[in-house]
Amino acid sequence: MKTFFLLLAIAGLTACGAGSGEGLNQQGLPTSSSNGNSSASSSSAPENAVTLAQLQQTIFGAICTNCHTGANAPRGLRLDSEENAYAFLVNRTADEIPTLMRVNPGKPDDSYLIKKLEGSADIVGARMPLGGPFLSQEQIDQVRSWIANGAPRTGAGSATTKVARASAQKLNSQVTVDLHFSRPLQFDTIDPDSISVFYRTTARQKTAIDFSLLLVDQTLYLSVNNLPEQATHVEVLIYNSELQPLLDKNHHAFDGDSDENQGGGYSYVYPL
Ligand code: HEC
Repeated sequence: MKTFFLLLAIAGLTACGAGSGEGLNQQGLPTSSSNGNSSASSSSAPENAVTLAQLQQTIFGAICTNCHTGANAPRGLRLDSEENAYAFLVNRTADEIPTLMRVNPGKPDDSYLIKKLEGSADIVGARMPLGGPFLSQEQIDQVRSWIANGAPRTGAGSATTKVARASAQKLNSQVTVDLHFSRPLQFDTIDPDSISVFYRTTARQKTAIDFSLLLVDQTLYLSVNNLPEQATHVEVLIYNSELQPLLDKNHHAFDGDSDENQGGGYSYVYPL
């Protein structure tokens, strides 16, 4: 028997109106005509997605241009206008690690820009902005969301909502997993039965029975308790079934497998 607690909270009351099932048919599926359809139009432009214009205004232009300006910009990376930020970031090879793109559209984890902003262990040189203060996780998540949506030059890009960042940490016998989505989800479409947590020991895979969920706007926090010492991996699975998909604020199903089509399962594995 599975026992766990489902806690749902929501940051900002604005989200409440959108979460009460409007736009859904009796099966809980979106009534929108683009349901399950890959060609999900850019005309149904997602309202909650970050645009390059916003990033330019609040981050690149406001913080990075102290140094990344003009012909002598460090590593030739100019962030002194929206056009330059796009031209020098998107699909451009990183100087310091030429096997990586600065921004690899759709792949925030494989984008050197994100590694430099987060100060990943595998960067060359220093964490950015050089000398700090560093960006907040919230600001970095905005950059991640833009990349997850395809790093569009204008507008909000991909119409599907994906996981833009997954991270986890272990404290004693507890593991907390944070899944940050590229756009906010509707809190009442998170169904505890559609999420499973497993742990693996060297011998076999077992269902973790003691976990709780908390969805705050754009991030789903899971905590898995009482993991046995022999556990080697924790895996989180979101089934995201057609009958009960997770929906974003545009009533579009969560794109679990990041294939630009709505729907599809999502899995995150955390080695302990
Ligand atoms: C105080 C000056 C300074 C500021 C502010 C600064 N940078 Fe840098 N940046 C540098 C220098 C110098 C380098 C090259 C040396 C290094 O990487 O440590 C660099 C390198 C980089 C690189 C590596 C480029 C490549 O292709 O290898 C990226 C990406 C980057 N910065 C992004 C940013 C972003 C984004 C910001 C703003 C959030 C920022 N930087 C703010 C000075 C700065």
